[in-house]
Amino acid sequence: MSAHADPNKKQVTLRTLQQMKRAGQKITMLTAYDATFARLLDASGVDVLLVGDSLGMVVKGEQNTLGVTIEEVAYHTAAVARATSHAHVVGDMPFMSYQAKVEDALKNAALLLRAGASSVKLEGGASIAPTVARMVEAGIPVMGHVGLMPQSVHAMGGFVVQGKDPASRQRILEDALALQRAGAYAVVLEGIPADLAAEITAALSIPTIGIGAGAGCDGQVLVVYDLLGLNPAFQPKFVKKYLDGASLVLDAFTRYVAEVRGGAFPAAEHSFGVGSGRDGGAKATT
Ligand code: KIV
Repeated sequence: MSAHADPNKKQVTLRTLQQMKRAGQKITMLTAYDATFARLLDASGVDVLLVGDSLGMVVKGEQNTLGVTIEEVAYHTAAVARATSHAHVVGDMPFMSYQAKVEDALKNAALLLRAGASSVKLEGGASIAPTVARMVEAGIPVMGHVGLMPQSVHAMGGFVVQGKDPASRQRILEDALALQRAGAYAVVLEGIPADLAAEITAALSIPTIGIGAGAGCDGQVLVVYDLLGLNPAFQPKFVKKYLDGASLVLDAFTRYVAEVRGGAFPAAEHSFGVGSGRDGGAKATT
C-alpha cells in the first residue's frame, strides 16, 4: 500500500469478488492510468481498477492497443497503485508480452505485480489456457478476456462484435470455460450478444465482467474517459456518457486562455506579496 492510500479502507480481493458473484452483487470495474484519476475512482468505491492496454488509444493516441509495451503498463500501474487503497488493481498484459512463451508471461506478469498490481489480465481462451494454468500455479492471479479481443484487431477484421453465429458462440463459451478450468479468477466478456454473455455467466462459477455484453454479466467495465465523455468522436452503443466531459474541460481551458490573455488571471488572490507568509500558505502545485 502506498503512502497516499487510506489505511482504513478494506481492500477488494479475489475472495471479495468471488463472494460478490455468489451473493448476486454487481461488480464495478473502470480503467485508470494515473494517480489523480485513481484517487477519485478509489473514493467512488469502484471495486476494480484496470490499468488497461487501452492506454495505447486513450493516453498515447494510437489507433489500437498493439503498440503498448509491458514497461508502459508497469509505469501506469505504479501510478494507479500509489493512489489506491480500496479497489483491486489489475495490470493488463499487452500484445506479445505473454503469447510467445510461458516464460515471457511469468516474467512480464511479475513486472506488473512488482509495480503494484494485485492481479493481471490477458486476452485469449482455450489456446492461452495452459499459460494461464502455469501463471496461476506460480501464484499469479489471472483475469481472462474473451469475445472481442482488441489485441486480435487485425485477425477479427476490426473492432467487431463476436459470437453472432452458432459456431462462434460455442467457441467463446468454451474459451471462457477453459480459462475457468485453468484457474482464472474472473473473465472479461467484450463485444458479444447479451444473451450469450448471460449464458456464459450462468455456466461459470467465476465472475464475468462485461463491456458491450449486456446486463447479464456479474459486473461491468468501461474505459473511464468514455464514461466521462472526453472524446466526442467516440460514442459507441455500449458506452453511457455520465458527463459531457469534453465540453466542460474545453470550456475551462478556453476561459483560462482568455483570462490570461485579458489579464484577469492571475488576480491579487493568486499572487504572493510581502507579508503573505514564507510561501503565502500555498504550494506551486497541488
Ligand atoms: O484495455 C482495456 O481497457 C480493456 C477493457 C476495455 C476491458 O481491456
